[in-house]
Amino acid sequence: MAQQVRGVIARSKGAPVELVDIVVPDPGPGEVVVAIAACGVCHTDLTYREGGINDEFPFLLGHEAAGTVESVGEGVDSVAPGDFVILNWRAVCGTCRACKRGRPQYCFNTFNAAQKMTLTDGTELTPALGIGAFADKTLVHAGQCTKVDPTVDPAVAGLLGCGVMAGLGAAVNTAGVTRGDSVAVIGCGGVGDAAIVGAHLAGATTIIAVDRDEQKLNWAAELGATHTVNATDTDAVAAVQELTGGFGADVVIDAVGRPETWKQAFYARDLAGTVVLVGVPTPDMKLEMPLLDFFSRGGSLKSSWYGDCLPERDFPMLVDLHQQGRLPLDKFVTERIALDGVEKAFHTMHVGEVLRSVVIL
Ligand SMILES: NC(=O)c1ccc[n+]([C@@H]2O[C@H](COP(=O)([O-])OP(=O)(O)OC[C@H]3O[C@@H](n4cnc5c(N)ncnc54)[C@H](O)[C@@H]3O)[C@@H](O)[C@H]2O)c1
Ligand SMILES: [Zn+2]
Ligand SMILES: [Zn+2]
Repeated sequence: MAQQVRGVIARSKGAPVELVDIVVPDPGPGEVVVAIAACGVCHTDLTYREGGINDEFPFLLGHEAAGTVESVGEGVDSVAPGDFVILNWRAVCGTCRACKRGRPQYCFNTFNAAQKMTLTDGTELTPALGIGAFADKTLVHAGQCTKVDPTVDPAVAGLLGCGVMAGLGAAVNTAGVTRGDSVAVIGCGGVGDAAIVGAHLAGATTIIAVDRDEQKLNWAAELGATHTVNATDTDAVAAVQELTGGFGADVVIDAVGRPETWKQAFYARDLAGTVVLVGVPTPDMKLEMPLLDFFSRGGSLKSSWYGDCLPERDFPMLVDLHQQGRLPLDKFVTERIALDGVEKAFHTMHVGEVLRSVVIL
């Protein structure tokens, strides 16, 4: 029997989100219904609402979540009812050209549930990143459920499902930060601060946080930044160069995703260093630069999707590090809110008052 639960939807571009009844089908073959315990509010949810991802409205928002498996469909043996899981948006297929070449972190054909969740009038919903977890329950593919230590705080665990993994992985996996590196991070929201935590974990000795908001810089310092730069009144490129012996940082991570921040990242980097773009640009953004500048500086220019993570490899490991007190993921949870608080949380995020608002169900 399909069940009716509450969910937060974006009905049309720019309109305030609505808490409505949605219909969650029974899990079919390979599918799982998960009772959501917690779901973080990520900037990407706002980008969906603004029509910046695609126009497949109405969206069922929320994608940074942890919960308990309620029921499983035919053929599912990787999880069972009662398992505590983090939901992921990289259920690798194992057979696409990336997977076959041994690079499943780039899988081009990740799994999602085959059935659709709907409004009560039958209108099909598009779940954000194939998850849709601002809801009491959601329907996903079994591969989207990663079992972790059930004693972890669900609010903390859920954050690994997107923003924290994206930022931490951008530093550790995509950039390959290692002991002794200098790293600069532009934009210190949840994603940028997770990159700082990742750089710290990997042994970077100089970690420079760049933001325009003083409170964000204070949080970045608490999470491991050795230096902070307020880009409102300081030239970020010159500041990073000055803090790195005049050379620039080995790795610069752009966690904002705008042409001007990407250029800062590019010019704040040492020769042969690495730039990682993790912030998501919008379709109208363009970059114009002398091609010779790319050539003459060498190094690598990368973008990072989901921190190049493999959920089955990375989520349990990061939860274990957190439980051992070696990864301060609890500091990302600024406020705990109810399911009807998502619209207000978008505003709070926009004005920069939080690292993460987390919906608790
Ligand atoms: N690549 C991925 O897989 C992935 C995953 C999740 C989120 N994201 C993206 O990462 C980005 C950051 O997400 P978030 O949740 O941390 O957002 P956020 O809004 O919480 O943080 C953005 C931060 O950037 C700062 N900022 C804005 N403009 C700036 C500028 N010109 N110079 C310096 N700092 C500036 C803001 O003050 C804020 O602290 C978003 O674009 C989001 O969509 C990417
Ligand atoms: Zn694949
Ligand atoms: Zn996200």
